Amino acid sequence: MAPSARILLIVSGGIAAYKSLELIRRGRDRGLSFRVILTPGGAEFVTPLSFASISGEKVYQELFSLTDESEMGHIRLSREADLVVVAPASADLLAKMAHGLADDLASTALLATDKPVLVAPAMNVMMWANPATQANIATLRARGIHVVGPGSGDLACGEEGSGRLSEPNDILDAIETLLGRERVLSGLKALVTSGPTHEPIDPVRYIANRSSGKQGHAIAAALAKLGADTLLVSGPTGEADPAGVAVRHVETAAQMLAACEAALPVDVAVCAAAVADWRPAQAGNQKLKKNGMTAQSLELTANPDILATLAQSKKARPRLVIGFAAETEQVIKHAEEKLKKKGCDWILANDVSAGTGTFGGDANTIHLISANGVEDWPTSSKQDVALRLARRIADHLRGAHA
Ligand code: C5P
Repeated sequence: MAPSARILLIVSGGIAAYKSLELIRRGRDRGLSFRVILTPGGAEFVTPLSFASISGEKVYQELFSLTDESEMGHIRLSREADLVVVAPASADLLAKMAHGLADDLASTALLATDKPVLVAPAMNVMMWANPATQANIATLRARGIHVVGPGSGDLACGEEGSGRLSEPNDILDAIETLLGRERVLSGLKALVTSGPTHEPIDPVRYIANRSSGKQGHAIAAALAKLGADTLLVSGPTGEADPAGVAVRHVETAAQMLAACEAALPVDVAVCAAAVADWRPAQAGNQKLKKNGMTAQSLELTANPDILATLAQSKKARPRLVIGFAAETEQVIKHAEEKLKKKGCDWILANDVSAGTGTFGGDANTIHLISANGVEDWPTSSKQDVALRLARRIADHLRGAHA
């Protein structure tokens, strides 16, 4: 396990404060240690004694307490941490942070810190949606403050919508990412396909599709971030090569397959490329002339199915083979059929029908289909989908979900 990292956890007011107890408990299991600052609002919901018992440390509450100041001033408190986490972060504390107020221990420590800060907002849906809160969050983000959540669902106030504190595990994942210590895939090899393929008709024309490569590239980046030795086999895209990833650039499906087979054995293969199903049977060596052609004269032949080939490989099947199903209707049903037909372990199904903005866009809504059933993931950025998938792969390969 990585050496213990020190978290200064600031707990502000809100019913979600009780979840911070679980955050500490689970965080300690992950090798994190916590010092808690409890705001007066936070103390209305959970007692200092609960935090002291669960963190195994003194809990800090008063700015001008003589003993606290002599033992541990607010400057030292915030400097001795590796990361400052505010969970739950109330609308009030976010506003104070955005405006640089420092009239209590929490806000003073936040102003005095030289460490990265992660906030996990939690509040009523209208308070979160209020332009004042949104402006404060935008200001904080622009200053480099990291934000996790809020999630949406039933809120303690009885209303529904965005404003729920992120789940403790999601906050811990964000903490570990910020600490740069989430290397749960180190020692494992990953292969990712991404982008479209271009199938030449002649030297100037080709058959292609609208895949941007954003999701596949993000997956390769996330796997590498978690420590996997990652090869990305990419068709032609406008995406930059992700940092820390080996990249093979290819054009056609045949080249993509050859590059994938050359990379075996690997522990996990993720086929996110939108491979052209067909290619011209014979690509002309010279530009084809319009007048010699009819609508029927382009003869096509089927491309190899890379996902199915990897999933059904007798010699070196990866332990985990993952495909995508971009569907415009009956998303789950078609994805389940695809899982069987291709012989892969998981299918990530997404709705790409007109209006969803998935193709070329930055967000994605995923349903993970496996032999164990269907998992619905919340709509999130392609980066978040990638990180979630990479963590899920780590859990599986390390045995948690095997
Ligand atoms: O059959 P369909 O193209 O809908 O399947 C999509 C999945 O199969 C994706 O994971 C895609 O990367 C993969 N695929 C492939 N080779 C093909 C066609 C699809 O790897 N020739």
